[in-house]
Amino acid sequence: MTSSISSLKEKRRDQRSESIIMSVCNLLSALLLLASTASASHYIGGLMTFNSKKNPDGSYRVDIRFKEAYHSCNMGDYWTCGFGNCGNKTFVSGRVDSSPKGGSWCQTEGVMKRTVSNNSPFQLQQSSCCWISNGANSGGNWRLLTLIDLGERSDTSKPNRSPVVTTLPVVRVPQNCARNYNLLSFDPDHDQVRCRYGDFSADECGMCNQHAGFTLDQSTCTLSYANSSTDVYLFELVMEDYPTQIISLNYTAMAAAVRSPFNNASSNLPLSKIPLQFALEVEAPAPSCTEGEYLPRFLHPTPHHGEHLQARVNQELEIRIKATATFSSITDVVFSGPLNSTKETTITGEYVINWTPTSENYGQHFPICFIAEGQNGSINYQSEMRCVIVVVKAEGPKSQVTCTKDTMSVSIERATISGVHGDHLRVNNNASCAVSSNSTHVFTTFSLNGCGTQIEETDEHVIFKNTIVTFDNPNHIITRKNVFEIEVMCKYQKKSSITTRFDAHRSAVNFTERGFGSFSYQFEFYQSDHFKNIRDPSSYPLEYNVAETIYMEISPLNVMQNTEVFLVSCVASPYDNPNYPISYPIITNGCEVDETVNIYTSHQPNVKFSMEAFKFIGQYDQVFITCSIIICQANNPNTRCAQGCTNSTQVAPSSHVHKREAAIQTGSHFISQGPLRLRRSASLTEAISPSLNLNLVFVAGCVVAVVAMVCGMMVYKSRGSNIKYQLLKSDEI
Ligand SMILES: *[C@@H]1O[C@H](CO)[C@@H](O)[C@H](O)[C@H]1NC(C)=O
Ligand SMILES: *[C@@H]1O[C@H](CO)[C@@H](O)[C@H](O)[C@H]1NC(C)=O
Ligand SMILES: *[C@@H]1O[C@H](CO)[C@@H](O)[C@H](O)[C@H]1NC(C)=O
Repeated sequence: MTSSISSLKEKRRDQRSESIIMSVCNLLSALLLLASTASASHYIGGLMTFNSKKNPDGSYRVDIRFKEAYHSCNMGDYWTCGFGNCGNKTFVSGRVDSSPKGGSWCQTEGVMKRTVSNNSPFQLQQSSCCWISNGANSGGNWRLLTLIDLGERSDTSKPNRSPVVTTLPVVRVPQNCARNYNLLSFDPDHDQVRCRYGDFSADECGMCNQHAGFTLDQSTCTLSYANSSTDVYLFELVMEDYPTQIISLNYTAMAAAVRSPFNNASSNLPLSKIPLQFALEVEAPAPSCTEGEYLPRFLHPTPHHGEHLQARVNQELEIRIKATATFSSITDVVFSGPLNSTKETTITGEYVINWTPTSENYGQHFPICFIAEGQNGSINYQSEMRCVIVVVKAEGPKSQVTCTKDTMSVSIERATISGVHGDHLRVNNNASCAVSSNSTHVFTTFSLNGCGTQIEETDEHVIFKNTIVTFDNPNHIITRKNVFEIEVMCKYQKKSSITTRFDAHRSAVNFTERGFGSFSYQFEFYQSDHFKNIRDPSSYPLEYNVAETIYMEISPLNVMQNTEVFLVSCVASPYDNPNYPISYPIITNGCEVDETVNIYTSHQPNVKFSMEAFKFIGQYDQVFITCSIIICQANNPNTRCAQGCTNSTQVAPSSHVHKREAAIQTGSHFISQGPLRLRRSASLTEAISPSLNLNLVFVAGCVVAVVAMVCGMMVYKSRGSNIKYQLLKSDEI
């Protein structure tokens, strides 16, 4: 049902009796507030939600979360008690997100905890001047009002909880693009949630305008924009919840009351009323309204609107957001979420919202909304607004992650993963990265550049991630296919005063392959093209001048008869990890990609090559060279080694070779060495190639020294309803 004036009038009549009682004290408190918060002008919207429970001593605890946005971050709590017993409070607040665009806003969240001696209804309110300029108005007063009724519901035997909602303070839409803003309308008690315009006589709004060109669907809380002139429009909405059947509310200090489902002609009262106020800016028309052209479009793995994501107490929740637009570049993702949630940008252009729920948040629901912003010239475009609900589950497996500068150690308490056999766990399901166990713990240690460890870089952190999973033991007749996956990470702060660097010389790497046995290869840098003297392992990081030649050799520690080594690929990247998403290719598929590369040997047990100290080093503080090699039977024309440079990514030779007893070649193995640094000089800026991906450039000049470990922890990826630690029924075959 959409908004109509007649239903609003009826609402007004219902609320009059309540509001007359309050109006005198409201006026007083409003005047006081005008005086106290006049400096906090340029209000850009606010909202409040609450969650309540009965304490063992019979009192009630109400956790109230409110968000307010202003031009600058305003952390205050200016809420006053409108009527009833509002109890005692504690209060903390902090910034959620801010943006220079859309009137330049900062949204903060305050968490107010109130302890109330009885469960009678009470009302919190706040009012002041002034809204941001809108239409013909330069500001105007604003008022926020929340009705909290703690009466024990006959259906749940608990006090009511408010709907779960949040919004960005400013949403923007091009004039020619019709759009729906589907405000979250989720209620943890499964009540019916309704939205309506605020009522002036009930103190629910300051300006109380209803704008032509917009329609509010009251039953779904969808605000639809059709067409209006370019301007800023203020929405002062009220969200209410109604039971889906007739229930009674029982009080400790007053007579019981009845609440019934909403009906059109109803004079019934809601269970709670919460404010939801924001600004909507209609901007100049866009050349196209198709998402993905000028307006950003969300891509995988961005969660869908309305999705319920699971989080766990004391475990970082990670929500990854990616957007694209052909004719605009993505400049930001703005979000509105719980206090202490943070946002980071990865160098591959994803936005990651992180939040770690505490045990106090257990069982509660938290809304998070986000919008992607794109820019074409000086014009900014916003995507649709998506909102998700985070459900906080109990703490999962207890684990401790310890990070050093090149390893990650994980130990998991067995008692918290009962049903999972320690012997059935592996790192990244990699057979050579086993997990050990004793009577109380399962534990493992692996290298930050091995076992498939993934690496991710954001503006502030370098993050190494891996997963511990169950695997099926092929030697057991009965297998237990328990779905178990623990994601672990080491997070390092890029800038810090403590400098622990990843800069030690790498010793030889060992690998074992059936048919080939075990072997060790080393990767060394040399002084000259004589390849006689290796660069001193204690002098790392090695320093080079621009255009100086770097001589390298990969060779076996003990020469194996009848083998040759083939250099499949080499890249330079700022971290010693083959999975780093941005790297500078030197050799690909055995072909020289960088024009300064020289390979001196072929079909030998070792490979010698060189290249000029290149521009790429200039992009970063330091680089590592990571190569993949294959070892083949010498002089066998069927091997990958014999093929040499080829575009084909296929490594396997013709099939009959596979069936032969003796292997003729190994799989490819990573071997790395570094770091290398460019000697700092005036010519350095010139050395940075303009042809390189622009994404890289922001790193130039800043020190990407990986320093000071922040923490090792488990992460919880937002994968919707996929419960990652849940042990499925054992599937016996
Ligand atoms: C936010 O983080 C601070 C510092 O880590 C902590 O003291 C506080 O309890 C957190 N607040 C909430 C509501 O999670
Ligand atoms: C089991 O291993 C963990 C982690 O290495 C260790 O802390 C614990 O003391 C060990 N427990 C026993 C009983 O050996
Ligand atoms: C193979 O590589 C050559 C030279 O690098 C290139 O010109 C050609 O387009 C490539 N072919 C394919 C199919 O990629």
